[in-house]
Amino acid sequence: MDKFVIRGGNPLLGTIRISGAKNAALPAMAAALLTDEPVILENIPQVRDIETTRKLLAAMGAEVELGYGRAHHRTTLCCRNLISPEASYELVKTMRASTLVLGPLVSRCGTARVSLPGGCAIGARPIDLHIKGLERLGAKITTEHGYVEASADRLKGTEIVFDKITVTGTEDLLMAATLAEGQTVIQNCAREPEVADLAELLNKMGAKIEGAGTPTIRVKGVDKLHGAKHRIIPDRIEAATFIIAGALTDGDLNVTECNPDHLGALLQKLQEVGIKTRNTKDSVRVEGNGTLKAADVVTEEYPGFPTDMQAQFMALATQAEGTSIVTENIFENRFMHAQEMVRMGANIKIEGSRAVVRGKTQLSGAAVLASDLRASASLVLAALVADGETIIDRVYHIDRGYEHIEEKLRGVGAQIKRIGEIFPKRRGSGAA
Ligand code: UD1
Repeated sequence: MDKFVIRGGNPLLGTIRISGAKNAALPAMAAALLTDEPVILENIPQVRDIETTRKLLAAMGAEVELGYGRAHHRTTLCCRNLISPEASYELVKTMRASTLVLGPLVSRCGTARVSLPGGCAIGARPIDLHIKGLERLGAKITTEHGYVEASADRLKGTEIVFDKITVTGTEDLLMAATLAEGQTVIQNCAREPEVADLAELLNKMGAKIEGAGTPTIRVKGVDKLHGAKHRIIPDRIEAATFIIAGALTDGDLNVTECNPDHLGALLQKLQEVGIKTRNTKDSVRVEGNGTLKAADVVTEEYPGFPTDMQAQFMALATQAEGTSIVTENIFENRFMHAQEMVRMGANIKIEGSRAVVRGKTQLSGAAVLASDLRASASLVLAALVADGETIIDRVYHIDRGYEHIEEKLRGVGAQIKRIGEIFPKRRGSGAA
């Protein structure tokens, strides 16, 4: 199993380029299930979750080409001959977002069999809201032997009000509604930029969607969708991670090919911490100023402070003067990184959904364990300012969502190396 060995203490200096958003690429790939024509996606990140989605779609009979390097991270998907509308437990257990195929499959094929995802390191994460919404659209759903089985002659447009805001739930139902008969109005939707990006792709495919990115989305169902070409938006979580790294290491980092408009909550919080950034329309330059001030954060749905940036912010809070309170409102068990940071010398107390972080503490390198994707990123950040060497185990979590993070960090002066089996790089393209 791969590990990262990081020697802390270097300020990060230079330019770091942001990849396409994993969380926008995953639903976009699932959207290809809605048509028998090719869908071409650009700016697809080279991360493990994309490879898992390729396997998932290929197992259903889809042709998926992943092209990297000179092929500009382009993926061509063609779902003309779907032989088996099923997402197996083997794949769903490694990536919960596999459940994104449920809506498109039942809508296009009239049947879908998708494994229930089960528990997860950061909380229960049920998919009851996806299921309820599909039932409202007329699907018959049973759950047996750990699988959700959905069937419908043709889905029928209706009004759906989410009890709770869910990102992939919104995306799943949005995709399902595109081929339903009549109009669907979905209320209390997630407003994340990834939802709006998906709607943009679906509209290019011939869907009639209005309001994506707001709490109410209206979809006029159409009989058929066609192929399209679409460029995935930049990854705001990857950008946030590197912006925090620049501030934390007292560096001078230009984070390019990102969208600062998607980073509002973080950039505002950094101001409170005493870090000013200079933004252009597609870059953020962050300069450390020697001192960081404590600040509280509360995670919320977009446009609030993202839960996916909470762990990285906690690493920053360990280096800020004073007490920062980090409140996690989205997931019930998302503080696994805190205990690892404590092993590195941080002063963090967990009180239910709040973490009380007292700073500034000198962190010292230690052997730590990555528990989930963003937790791993936060441990990399902590290691960048720790005294001595940190060894992070189970970095396969980080490979799920960060494209070659160690190469990007090394390029701006970090001392980081990977040991163990290296996540294989795909060169050129490979049809599946
Ligand atoms: C997505 C993101 C993930 C991010 C999360 C919250 C993707 C692929 N993943 O995950 O990175 O951390 O949004 O911003 O885009 N819930 C239910 N029932 C449901 C669905 C959700 O109770 O049917 C609950 C969840 O347990 C959680 C909350 O709703 O407490 C939000 O979850 P949700 O927005 O669905 O997260 P994901 O879409 O899985």
